Amino acid sequence: MDDRAIGIFDSGVGGLSILRQIRALLPNEDLIFLADQAHVPYGQRALHEVRTFAHSITNFLLDHHAKTIVVACNTASAAALKDLRSTFPSIPFVGMEPAVKPAAETTQSQVVGVLATPATFQGKLFASVVERFASNVTVLEKTLPGLVDQIEQGDLDGAKTREILEQGILPLLEHGADTLVLACTHYPFIIPLLSELAGPGVQVIDPAPAIARQTGRVINQHDLSAPPEKHGQIDYYTTGDPVRFEELSKSLIDEPGIVRQVFWRRKKLVLPDC
Ligand code: DGL
Repeated sequence: MDDRAIGIFDSGVGGLSILRQIRALLPNEDLIFLADQAHVPYGQRALHEVRTFAHSITNFLLDHHAKTIVVACNTASAAALKDLRSTFPSIPFVGMEPAVKPAAETTQSQVVGVLATPATFQGKLFASVVERFASNVTVLEKTLPGLVDQIEQGDLDGAKTREILEQGILPLLEHGADTLVLACTHYPFIIPLLSELAGPGVQVIDPAPAIARQTGRVINQHDLSAPPEKHGQIDYYTTGDPVRFEELSKSLIDEPGIVRQVFWRRKKLVLPDC
C-alpha cells in the first residue's frame, strides 16, 4: 500500500481527459495534476524544448511525492518518454502512444486517420507504432492547427472550432477513413462535435480509458496502490492563470480540487513563496 499521489501532466487542460478516467477507475488514489499553460501549445515546439519542460515537471511532481507519473500528453510522450524512463529509472511512467493498433484492428475500410500535433508526428514513437501495428492499413496523418488553443479557451463547438475540425477531417473522410484516432489528449473534449461532423459511419478512438487501465496495472505491479477505502484528493497546479484553469476544468470534467499557481524560474518550477 502506498498513500502517495499519482502525478499527471500535460501542456494544458487536455490531460484532464486522462485524469477523468483515472479518477473514475481509481477513486481511492490521490492525484496531482500539472498543466503547463504558460507553454501551451506544445505541439508546434521543438522536441528538445518539450523534453526540457517534461523533465522539470517530473522533478516538480516527484518533489511533491508522486509515486508514478502519467505523461498525459502525446506530444510530451513523443518528445520525452524514453528519456524520462532512463533519467528516473526507479519511477514507473505511463505514457501516451497513438492508438493506431485498435484502429488497425477494427477499420473496415482499411483507412485510418490520426489526429495529432506536428511534434507527435515527428517523434520516433509514432513511426514505430505505425510500423509495428498498422503495416496492413493506410494511415493518414492530420494536424489540426489552432484546435488546442480553442479548447484551452473553452470553445468546444463554436464556429472557429467547427471550421478547424471540418477542414481537418474532410480530406480524411474523402480518402475513405472510417476510423479516427485521437492522438492528442485535448481532443476527447470535442468528441460530440467530431462525431456530428464525421457522421455515424466513422468510429472515433479515445485512448483515455485504456490509459487509466494501464495506470491501474502499473501501480498494482509495483505495489503502489492506495488503501481501497481511501477517498482520493486532487491537487491541481497550473503555470498559467489559476482562476481561468479552475473555471475551465470545472466545465470540462468537474472534479473538485485545490488549484495553485506555479512559476517557471530558470527552467525550474517553483511555488509563489519560494
Ligand atoms: N495535449 C497534448 C497532446 O496530447 C498537447 C497539445 C499541445 O499542447 O499542442 O499532444
